[in-house]
Amino acid sequence: MTAAVTAPIAYSALGQRAQPPTIARLMALMLENPKLLSIAAGFTDTRSLPESAVQAAAAALAARPSEPDHLQYGTNQGRPKLRALLADRLLALESVDASAYAAPIRANFFITNGSQQALYLAMQVLCDPGDIVLVDRPSYFVYLEMLVGLGVQARSLPVDAAGRIDGPALRGLLGDLRDRGELARLKAVYFVSYFSNPSARSFDEAEKIVIAEALTGAGAIVPVVEDAAYRELYYTTPHAARSVLSLPAWAAFPKLYLSTLTKPFATGLKVGYGTCSDAGLVAKMLHVKGHHDFGTANYNQALLEEVIAHGGLDAQLAVVRPVYFSKMRALHDALIAAGLPALGWRWAVPGGGLYLWLEAPVALDTGLDSAFCRACVEAGVLYVPGELCFGDDAPKNFVRLSFGVLGEVDLAEAGRRFASVAKRFA
Ligand SMILES: Cc1ncc(COP(=O)(O)O)c(C=O)c1O
Repeated sequence: MTAAVTAPIAYSALGQRAQPPTIARLMALMLENPKLLSIAAGFTDTRSLPESAVQAAAAALAARPSEPDHLQYGTNQGRPKLRALLADRLLALESVDASAYAAPIRANFFITNGSQQALYLAMQVLCDPGDIVLVDRPSYFVYLEMLVGLGVQARSLPVDAAGRIDGPALRGLLGDLRDRGELARLKAVYFVSYFSNPSARSFDEAEKIVIAEALTGAGAIVPVVEDAAYRELYYTTPHAARSVLSLPAWAAFPKLYLSTLTKPFATGLKVGYGTCSDAGLVAKMLHVKGHHDFGTANYNQALLEEVIAHGGLDAQLAVVRPVYFSKMRALHDALIAAGLPALGWRWAVPGGGLYLWLEAPVALDTGLDSAFCRACVEAGVLYVPGELCFGDDAPKNFVRLSFGVLGEVDLAEAGRRFASVAKRFA
């Protein structure tokens, strides 16, 4: 960008808070170092992107005898058929008798420009600067940066040593908020509950129930935002836990469930979706969506309608699940073979998703400005510092490695480079 030559601009509070996203900084590092192997950004596997399924869907749309409505503006809420297809899929995933809650799920279904947009819409309509949102620990760092941009404070849902939600500590946190007169500023709770970004962990039903009961006990019946971006991206076995939509403990809460077709199908189409138990909350979000763009790209939605109606999403998932499993193994095995565990590094082997979440020895600083991070860049490997993934009280000794985009040979090499730096810092 070129330097300003005109008078200084008086930015809004939002404009003043806006900072370059960390992902942009990581990508700039990449461009400056062409030999760098990036296991930082959460990109998907380029080679298995569904080129032929998209081509077939495009041909089917072009061959339709009617006027090409798919090249016209669509509706703000999204194409009705796509919404119905996705609502059917979601209800099938919930694996219980859906009759009690199916009607609002269908009626309040909406399509967004990636699930990222839905997260932004939700936060815009729920939160003012100074408000508080409870977030999982660790959490999705792009969402956390968005909260900073909106002037909203994130507070971590307390977890135990195994990373599970800690009920007594959560009750304590809510009690502290009440004692300090801050409970009225708590506006939402957010978590990534299936094969999470960054931890690859999934919440079990008991953990979700613990959160609902603690909030209920504190009288804080605030909207819950469940981010299920990776729910269908398991390797061999789905994670069986129901979402908040159908768990009785959450019955009294406004529930917003968000997911996406970017990770499981095609990132470049940038189509996300969501549904909500509360018609009023969706209406507000759609009002703001109307201000943003008054509708997600109609053509991309029409393509996806074709794809899903003809089994193309399931076919693509059948392709990518083993691909990501093998990629995860390639990186994991390289780290094991290079002796990382003997240096005190720990991680769980994921059952789905795109990430390894590594815990380094507690004294090792892996932050964005650390000597370790610089040494990794010099050694030709780029990762996401774990410190970015905490709403508060961020430890320095975590690392997120993404195995979505590189091939297995490069992943193994990236793992070796990473481990060689870890050895130097041991
Ligand atoms: C947990 C989580 N939620 C939401 C998103 C946004 O995805 P998209 O906007 O591509 O649907 C991502 C992307 O990485 C993610 O990891």
